[in-house]
Amino acid sequence: MIPTCRQWIGAASSVVALTGAGISAESGVPTFRGQGGLWKNFKPEDLATPEAFARDPRLVWEWYDWRRTLLAQVEPNSGHRALVQLEAAKPGFTLITQNVDGLHDRAGSRRPLKLHGDIWRLECRQCGRDWPDRRAPLPKLPPRCGCGAIARPGVVWFGEPLGEVWAEAEHAARTAEVFLIVGTSSLVYPAASLAPIAKAAGARLIEINPEGTPLSAHADASLRGLAGEVLPDLVNVSRRDESLDG
Ligand code: OAD
Repeated sequence: MIPTCRQWIGAASSVVALTGAGISAESGVPTFRGQGGLWKNFKPEDLATPEAFARDPRLVWEWYDWRRTLLAQVEPNSGHRALVQLEAAKPGFTLITQNVDGLHDRAGSRRPLKLHGDIWRLECRQCGRDWPDRRAPLPKLPPRCGCGAIARPGVVWFGEPLGEVWAEAEHAARTAEVFLIVGTSSLVYPAASLAPIAKAAGARLIEINPEGTPLSAHADASLRGLAGEVLPDLVNVSRRDESLDG
């Protein structure tokens, strides 16, 4: 199936990749669901909702600070790097991610569309400021904005709408000829609706995941493997064949 997928990618002028926590698993970042997943040990309603933050900002921040500290110790992997290569080879390439971990940026992706925000940014809902802060751990929890209000992590929580980035992601899905779905359980909406949107508009769907998902049955190719192994295989050999230049 991989040679066929390479041909599809090579012939397409617009390729979109949607990534989830699974692409960072080989870097040592826990996923959310499945074995060892964060939502096995923590409850989203205690840590990842606006209500939880209003109730106990320090508790929520302790969890995000722990995740930031863990992320500061890991590196992007060959899956992230393969997508950088794909971007370099394909002018019509768009990367959409549900991940907040910043590993796509660190690998060298130019402008990933971050559906769920960025854990390395802080926001103030009081004065509207948002800014980058890469310190981990943060010196004081909860961190504060210059205006005095408590800052929040620059991420999207359950029950919150996605930002302006959604319109761009949806447009990319509608115009994609090939849509790669990498390392996501395809359970969280609206992100999970992008692949069906792309498919309805005529894209070929290629799923890369060691396990089946609700989307697998609709994929044109379901490549059961690790992102860090399958993606380089899909991208490198295509480059050697020069088929990505199509
Ligand atoms: P999940 O934890 O739900 O799913 C991770 C997926 O990655 C699973 O389907 C695994 O089988 C797969 N996987 C694991 N290791 C892999 C590997 N090495 N290569 C490829 N795939 C692998 O994570 P997401 O789908 O990203 O939302 O979760 C979506 C959203 O739910 C997250 O963005 C987060 C979470 O709650 C917010 O924080 C708003």
